[in-house]
Parts: sequence; structure tokens; C-alpha cells
Amino acid sequence: MRVVIQDDYDKMCEWAANYIADKIKAHKEDRPFVLGLPTGSSPLGVYARLIKKNKAGEISFKNVVTFNMDEYLGLPHEHDQSYWYFMHDNFFDHLVDMKPENINILNGMTDDPEGECARYEEKIASYGGIDLFMGGIGVDGHLAFNEPYTSLTSRTGLRNLTTDTRIVNSRFFGGDPEKVPAQALSVGIGTVTDAKEVLVLISGHNKARALAAVVEGGVSQKWTCSALQMHNAAIIACDEESCGELTVDTYKYFLDIERGERL
Ligand code: GLP
Repeated sequence: MRVVIQDDYDKMCEWAANYIADKIKAHKEDRPFVLGLPTGSSPLGVYARLIKKNKAGEISFKNVVTFNMDEYLGLPHEHDQSYWYFMHDNFFDHLVDMKPENINILNGMTDDPEGECARYEEKIASYGGIDLFMGGIGVDGHLAFNEPYTSLTSRTGLRNLTTDTRIVNSRFFGGDPEKVPAQALSVGIGTVTDAKEVLVLISGHNKARALAAVVEGGVSQKWTCSALQMHNAAIIACDEESCGELTVDTYKYFLDIERGERL
């Protein structure tokens, strides 16, 4: 697993956006480039930069198919906290050549969660899998909505959210954890690690404990993002603030081996 440490949030986003743009540009095959996408505050700076590059004609989304990681159960598209709304508001609506039919987001209003999740996995497989899955993590190390102790081989399915996650996400629901949906649909850890490449963004002091556990701890269901240690093309892009709990030698090690990658 690579760990690319940047000075701050902006530089981390710059690095990640350039990385994704380069992958899209390098994709010369007829089949689409399949991109997995997260919600949350972490990817916002990456989305803004990808939009800018798209508007400037540097990258095209004509041949890009996207799959989002997760969606709250029971929130309709028009709810401003649904991930459908978030993705359109912060990303898709601003791209000049994204085809709506190439956007895939789990339907949180389904009355058949199992069927919805099985169809999602089938659709991913029908494209030959995901080329690059971008993600963020929760303060407890959750990837998508795979809370601590979700199986590291899990597939897309229904998830119960922990009290911790509902408290953290209550900032978007008027501060009331009870207003945060108690369940969500989410790709599994196995769905993410099946991607050819995984790029996870980790930023800020509040993620420092998670970053240390994911990088320096063992592979463990407790920190589901630690499954990336078993992936042969996984990258964590992070900022200095989130490195506060790394041991000094780990921190120096990644600065040494990624020396050329510092912006
Ligand atoms: C939610 C999402 C995750 C996201 C996490 C962190 O729980 N389900 O996919 O990574 O929030 O969000 P943020 O980037 O705002 O810290």
C-alpha cells in the first residue's frame, strides 16, 4: 500500500485529482473507464478540480462510467442529504459531457434492498469491474458504510450504521443523530478491493487515529479500511494533519519512498 503525504488538504486534492485525470486520459480502450466514487467532505476538493479540468477540455467523461459507494436507506433523490443529491450537486451536474445513463448510485428508496444490491454487483461485473475506486474513510476507519467488524470479503448489501457514525454524520442533519438514517446500502469491502486500483483520501486531525490503525495496525475487521493492505494497487493520499498518530519512522519511510510525489 502506498501512502502519499501532502502538506495540506488542498495539495492532497490536487494530487488525487491529477492522478485520476491521468488515468482517464491514459485509458485508450473502447470499453468505458469505470470509476468508483465516494461522498463526504474529503472528496469535495477533488471533485472541484476534476470539474475544472473537464470544463477546460483537459479530460472527458464521455467514456467514463461511475459507481457510487453508498446511499442512505429511505432518503429520496431530492433529499438534500441523499448521496444521489450530493453527487449531482457537487459533481455530475457540473461536468460538460457526463452521460446520465453512465451514473450508477444505489437506490435508497428500493423496497428490495437485497435485489438492488445484487443487481449493483452484477452491473459492476458487466463492465469488467471497477478500474479505480476512490474512497474516503470515517473516523472509525469505515470504508463506504462498512462499519467496524464488517467482513473484509463483504459484497454490496444493507448495513446498520453505528451510533458513532450517526453522531458524526448528524452535522448534516441539524445536529440530531436520530435524524440520520439508521441503515444504508453500501458496496462491500470485497467490492472495493476487487477494483484494479483503490485511492483513499484521508485528511485532518480527526482521522489521525484511523490512518495509523489502517497503515500500521494489522489487517483487521475493526478498521475495515485496513483490508487495503492486501491490495496490490492501493494508495492512501493524506495530509500532514492526519499523520499525527503515525510513528516517526513510518512517517519518514513514506516521505522517503514517495519523495518524487510531494507537490
Ligand atoms: C460517510 C460515508 C463515507 C465517507 C465518510 C467520511 O460515513 N459513508 O463513504 O468516507 O462519511 O466522510 P468525510 O469525508 O466527510 O469525513
